[in-house]
Amino acid sequence: MTSPTDRSRLLVLANRLPVRRVRTGDRSEWETSPRGLVAALGPVLESHPGEATWIGWTGITGEHHDPFRVDGVLLDPVEMSRGEVQLFYEGFCNSTLWPLYHDSIIRSEYHRTWWDAYVTINRRFTEHAARRAEPDAVVWVHDYQLQMVPAMLRAVRPDVRIGLFLHIPFPPVELFLQLPWRRQLLHGLAGADVVGFQTRGGAANFRSLVERLNIGEVDGADVIVDGRRVQVGVFPIGVDAARIAQIAADPATIDRAAEIRASLGDPETILLGVDRLDYTKGIARRIEAFAELLSEERLEVPRHVLVQVAEPSREAVLGYSDIRDRVDGLVGEVNGAYGLVGAPAVTYLHRSQSTEELVALYRAADVMLVTPVRDGMNLVCKEFVASRLDNTGVLVLSEFTGAAEALSDALLVNPYDVDGLKNAIDRAAHLPTAEVTRRMAALRKSVTTDDVYAWARSWMVALGLDTAPAEPPADTATPRQETPA
Ligand code: F6P
Repeated sequence: MTSPTDRSRLLVLANRLPVRRVRTGDRSEWETSPRGLVAALGPVLESHPGEATWIGWTGITGEHHDPFRVDGVLLDPVEMSRGEVQLFYEGFCNSTLWPLYHDSIIRSEYHRTWWDAYVTINRRFTEHAARRAEPDAVVWVHDYQLQMVPAMLRAVRPDVRIGLFLHIPFPPVELFLQLPWRRQLLHGLAGADVVGFQTRGGAANFRSLVERLNIGEVDGADVIVDGRRVQVGVFPIGVDAARIAQIAADPATIDRAAEIRASLGDPETILLGVDRLDYTKGIARRIEAFAELLSEERLEVPRHVLVQVAEPSREAVLGYSDIRDRVDGLVGEVNGAYGLVGAPAVTYLHRSQSTEELVALYRAADVMLVTPVRDGMNLVCKEFVASRLDNTGVLVLSEFTGAAEALSDALLVNPYDVDGLKNAIDRAAHLPTAEVTRRMAALRKSVTTDDVYAWARSWMVALGLDTAPAEPPADTATPRQETPA
């Protein structure tokens, strides 16, 4: 049983709860949220001593749900109306901030009504947190949807310690300055005790903006705002490498990987892409590069084939139906031009896959193509590496992912450079075995050492909760639906 007065020492605030409500016909039911953030935080909270509270949206409108417990975590749903989802989630979060923070790949829209909704929803999350936090609690806020929460919460609960982790890139000064509400957002973030970014570049951009807009002063790595020190940290997120390795070693996964290879006609090289269907992921450029390699006969069907998984995402948001149409069209064109009877050049799966199926695909592949034009971290490339227990497989990785900062043993590419991308794919398909092994062994060292538990531990230390370091739970075999972040 839960009561409205239940309070916790650790609170997580994220736009989505770890479970979401899914409607089929006139019925709705709970399912695990197929989201990167959930995959990252789930294991951390499961191993946290004492009860934690997770405050987030159910993913649905028009239903009321009281707080409830799942795996020892108290879930406290934040409600939004359909109109609020349009203005807050589809509008300000994903049509203003998302494109702006991803290098303005498409143009951001600025609407005062969207901003008003952003403030309203951030205040609603703040009210939930203020109600649920024990005295001196730790409140860990996640991502771009909730950047106003730290300052709002500090105003009403100065006793709590607040951390905010931005999972996506934090943009350069020139781009951020476009935002009509740039000062409010910076003040919102600076309400935290610790502001964390995926990369050194994101942290540097934040410091530059604080100085440029006279929000505060830079002091070493930190900033001083209103006489208060705000720790500015770099916390590159990792994956649950032990759990992925366990799935990869499972005989059922090994059989499934062999079955996948056989069903594709046992090609010499399987190239694989796994992404949310998002215009930031560079899916179309990747397919175009593959097509040019086929047309130049540097690669050839059925010896070389591409499998592209694209999880449907944000379909009501600007830009997403365009990328869907573009990829659909491209796959058709490439298969029409280069596919053979029974051997398509591109096998395209436009739906979510279970973690087990993804790991089987990672194992079945020879070359993993992770080529976003901008990405906060990218966990797919780390999952691929974590599943390659025998040091086989080549990773082609965009320089514009947060992951590239640590994974320099991948074949790094600039996805805007079509010839460079083609050369990297070609090289990956023909890399000598000794070099494949050397590169993958180095990548594995990084991914298994800097895993999600190491990331969580560094946050726990920064938040003053380091008494019980997060460790992988003994039984990590719980099946979980997981997708590209
Ligand atoms: O990468 C940022 C993020 O919000 C992740 O937390 C999430 O996995 C993904 O984008 C998709 O988010 P959503 O479907 O909630 O908009």
